[in-house]
Amino acid sequence: MHLNESPYPPSRNVVEYVSKYAEYLNLYKHDDLYNELIKELESYTKVDHSFLDIYPGSAAAVTLMLTYTKIIDSELVIVHPTFHAIYSLARNYGVKLVPVKLVGELFELNPSELIKACGNRVVYIVNPNNPTSNILLEDPDIVRRVSNLARAVFIDEAYYEFSGITFKDLVSELPNIVILRTFSKAFSLAGARFGYTITSSELKKTIRKLRIGFEVPLSTQAAALGALRDLNYTREIISKIIETRSWTRRRLADIGLNSVESSTNFVFINMGEPCGRAWSELKEAGILTMCLQNIDDLSEYSNYMRVTIGKPGDMEVFVEKMKQLIGSRGSTENNA
Ligand SMILES: Cc1ncc(COP(=O)(O)O)c(C=O)c1O
Repeated sequence: MHLNESPYPPSRNVVEYVSKYAEYLNLYKHDDLYNELIKELESYTKVDHSFLDIYPGSAAAVTLMLTYTKIIDSELVIVHPTFHAIYSLARNYGVKLVPVKLVGELFELNPSELIKACGNRVVYIVNPNNPTSNILLEDPDIVRRVSNLARAVFIDEAYYEFSGITFKDLVSELPNIVILRTFSKAFSLAGARFGYTITSSELKKTIRKLRIGFEVPLSTQAAALGALRDLNYTREIISKIIETRSWTRRRLADIGLNSVESSTNFVFINMGEPCGRAWSELKEAGILTMCLQNIDDLSEYSNYMRVTIGKPGDMEVFVEKMKQLIGSRGSTENNA
């Protein structure tokens, strides 16, 4: 669960819808299912269906962004640090990254640095950002300026349900914006692999030509439809996770560990020293985390650890283990 999945199972509705549509798995497509899904997505996102496209996980939209960047022979502007997968993917696709470094202990984005970098390039911004957990952009005017200068702007809103911040309404105004969303976090459907994009109509035509179609399994579409028809369940999960996140950050602060203000389902903790030792000891205790020291592209942030918010009981065990680790640090130093 250290990949920012939900600790809660999907809604019962999901199980019901998946079994209801299982008998159609001999087909590539089921028009009624697809149309119902798009209608529910339209009502959830409050954008017209003409802007929507579905994907087998938002990661599929991220790789399509790289394909698009490559074929228009552009470079990709990212903030740094950001979603760890983008670094190796860009290398493997032969796409040059142009990083805009986040500033200070709060990992803030300096909009003028972004505007300086984005001219005639493709831009990818995760908002709120992974792994730093904070909101980078709130002002639509900044996005408008970036969009005016850039070839295309991809805003990854994987954690939108925890932040409530979105730029989706700009797609009807600006010609080159793509919003990426996923059901892997707030909707508890990481294993179903469902994501969607909200895309300006001009760019949508180009991007659609890069796809075969039928990539989203019928069982996945059924799962997403079931989840969308039980939004109260998702809302409940979101508020439980936000409550547990606040509790976790407070308890960590009590033992002297600062974490960045989070608008996601994970926390980004400054361990005050390289996190490798803590990571191994937590792993031995059966607690999985992400330590940036272990990720080559992010190892300059080696003191930071990303921890997915679990159920309250999971986080109590985690905080207790962290307390022991911090306590033993003092005694290791005294013994040295
Ligand atoms: C910022 C970001 N984008 C995309 C993804 C991939 O999500 P999906 O499960 O929809 O492929 C993740 C998953 O952790 C993520 O953090």
